[in-house]
Amino acid sequence: MAKKDIDWENLGFGYIKTDKRYVSNFKDGKWDEGLITEDDKVVISECAGVLQYSQSCFEGLKAYTTEDGRVVTFRPDLNAQRMNDSAERLEMPKLPDGKFLEAVDKVVEANIDWVPPYGSGATLYIRPYMFGSNPVIGVKPADEYQFRVFVTPVGPYFKGGTKAVNLKVSDFDRAAPHGTGHIKAGLNYAMSLHAIVTAHAEGYDENLYLDPATRTKVEETGGANFIFVDHDGNLVVPKSTSILPSITRRSLTVVGEKYLGCKVYEREVLLSELKDFAECGLCGTAAVISPVGSIDDHGNKIVFGDGKEMGPVTKKLYDTLTGIQMGHIEGPEGWVHTIK
Ligand code: PLP
Ligand code: COI
Repeated sequence: MAKKDIDWENLGFGYIKTDKRYVSNFKDGKWDEGLITEDDKVVISECAGVLQYSQSCFEGLKAYTTEDGRVVTFRPDLNAQRMNDSAERLEMPKLPDGKFLEAVDKVVEANIDWVPPYGSGATLYIRPYMFGSNPVIGVKPADEYQFRVFVTPVGPYFKGGTKAVNLKVSDFDRAAPHGTGHIKAGLNYAMSLHAIVTAHAEGYDENLYLDPATRTKVEETGGANFIFVDHDGNLVVPKSTSILPSITRRSLTVVGEKYLGCKVYEREVLLSELKDFAECGLCGTAAVISPVGSIDDHGNKIVFGDGKEMGPVTKKLYDTLTGIQMGHIEGPEGWVHTIK
């Protein structure tokens, strides 16, 4: 088999149907074996729990081709853990040990020709997800579930690649105090759709959401955590119980501390102190680390650096993290998982 004939360098962040996907069903209190199939269609009852009460959660990770030609994933064990945390909060069944990781490996292997080549700038995005599949009409958890994994080759999440993005402070909330902001529930993203369409219509790339209780503290965007760099070159990351614990952000703070010698402060970050930071980045699997050029707080515009390019510390973080993922920098033990 040969690599697919795709213009890898010019891929955007979109869905392309690949050859194979993984499906496993939960019924009568247990998960079945699971299998790889070519069938990309999901057939469920019109009354399925996911369709009525949005009982769904998902994950996002990537497969990379390394410089020496291996295909690897990055800390997939943390995605497996977070998927089970999401499932637990949504009254969905957890996946048994190893099932998530095995499914991810199998789907990547089954679609090996879709893994973008080293140096192309593209990666294979992996989307594991789970939903309530049997009929539910009274408000309660489903009894049956489906867990699926598909893959799709992607380019940069933001159109300009590593060019700085411009945000607005949203008047909408993406999460509630004591709600589901800390897990990867599909409903969080449904919540954010009106806000992102509004931001795009006004010419912004993304929203900065504030803490829903006091609207004075920085939370995250619709699909990434923040990382700030102060004027001493130290990293400051927002701490909150209603943001998603980003695996990229948790890795970048280790990279900052262990590889770049930065101090790392995980603490509440006030909107009013953003003007004091030298650099700002958005971090996530899809976003990698995208520099933020400006944040518009209702007409009061905060600009980072020259507002266009990645700042020097953000650049070092980016180069080190992607260097570990692409295999030319040695990562901490267990970070890089070789599939093939
Ligand atoms: N925050 C939100 C709301 C997200 O959807 C994502 C994407 O997964 C992230 C943060 C980044 O998390 P991770 O680095 O684990 O991909
Ligand atoms: C990811 O980074 O994997 C995400 O799930 C973000 C999503 C909004 C594309």
